[in-house]
Amino acid sequence: MNILILGSGGREHALTWKLAQSKKVHKIFIGPGNAGTSNLGTNLKLNPENFIEVKSAVLENRIEMVIVGPEAPLTLGIHDFFLNDKTLKNIPIIGPNKSAARLEGSKDFAKAFLIRNRIPTAGYKSFDKTTLKEVPAFLRTLSPPYVIKADGLAAGKGVVIVDDIFEAEKEVEAMLNGKFGTAGQKVVIEQFLKGIELSVFIITDGTTYKLLPEAKDYKKIGVGDTGLNTGGMGAVSPVPFADQNFMNKVKSRIIDPTMKGLSDEGIVYKGFIFFGLINVDGNPYVIEYNIRLGDPESEVIIPRIKTDLFELMEGVAKGDLAGREIEIDDRFAATVMLVSGGYPGTYDKGKSIQGLDIAQESILFHAGTKKEADSVVTSGGRVLAVSSWGSSMKEALKTSYRNADLINFEGRYCRSDIGFDL
Ligand code: AMP
Ligand code: GLY
Repeated sequence: MNILILGSGGREHALTWKLAQSKKVHKIFIGPGNAGTSNLGTNLKLNPENFIEVKSAVLENRIEMVIVGPEAPLTLGIHDFFLNDKTLKNIPIIGPNKSAARLEGSKDFAKAFLIRNRIPTAGYKSFDKTTLKEVPAFLRTLSPPYVIKADGLAAGKGVVIVDDIFEAEKEVEAMLNGKFGTAGQKVVIEQFLKGIELSVFIITDGTTYKLLPEAKDYKKIGVGDTGLNTGGMGAVSPVPFADQNFMNKVKSRIIDPTMKGLSDEGIVYKGFIFFGLINVDGNPYVIEYNIRLGDPESEVIIPRIKTDLFELMEGVAKGDLAGREIEIDDRFAATVMLVSGGYPGTYDKGKSIQGLDIAQESILFHAGTKKEADSVVTSGGRVLAVSSWGSSMKEALKTSYRNADLINFEGRYCRSDIGFDL
């Protein structure tokens, strides 16, 4: 079968790497992909949010399945676009339809869904311009810090946490006045939860699901979880505190009621669900839903899936996931992200990368890279994820750091303390 993977980051390279190992996959196309994916398949110049371009690519290359990496095409309705198109309607999309994509696309929808289905999450209230004057009174019912979220997608920047109640009021007003464009037409204010976060993933055909490995990612740019938020500076899997007892609570209190809630509400969900959770004194709470795999979590969870991932995707497409097996590698996996100097602020692109061919016992997943003549150059903030296995988290990290040291480009930065808190 010919498949198309939409996206261009480390997650998409990890998907390409895994699916290239499937006997059932003939040719892999990646739109638009990066230098790493071009070694395993054919990169196509297309914008995943431009469905006409995606359609042409699918028809031209006889694609028989489309796997959507990032959230934006899903919240824009790519799944529905395929279902409503005569020539595309039989080509399965791995990723939810527009209605189900609201779990990530609208924080207000997600919070209401969580509360309706009695799934543990922080208390909240939503506001728009017409209810702005009720904000101070609601803030006074909470204790600091205050968590303020733009309702829609805001490129990972839509969550602000402040200690001061007046600053909180100002932030709500700024969001409602367009600080994040239309993403802030509604604003969610929620109770702050104190604990340690983790990412839990399932793949579902809408009826049953398979639990994928869990992971912990490191979002801050600086050592010791300091400084600005990034797309993710590294990740580890498994997460030591997510033991059997904790994961049983995740299943019974969060995953099962989410599946039942979707079904009760007539929402057919086909694809991955990413539960952004926080462990509060041994009890899991939902911070957010995402409708896709995480990045850099994919760079540790995909290497731990022993089974053919395409078989599971086929199960999603055919609706027979229940009859399929998933086997997980017991080993630990860790990934360390190499980023461009200045990221997550401004940074230069086009820096030539050395050392890509000397890494041993690690897999290099490309994120922001592209080929230029004979060399590979940087083309984004997050450049490369160095992933390794090990019999312990420490060992996996040691291998990743050893290989990360061999790779260089001007301005290269990585966090030196991935896994420090576990
Ligand atoms: P989100 O985009 O909803 O994942 O939020 C981004 C980050 O803000 C999360 O990864 C958390 O670190 C933090 N956060 C969001 N909601 C809360 C909350 N209710 N309590 C504490 N931290 C939160
Ligand atoms: N690593 C978090 C995310 O993919 O959203």
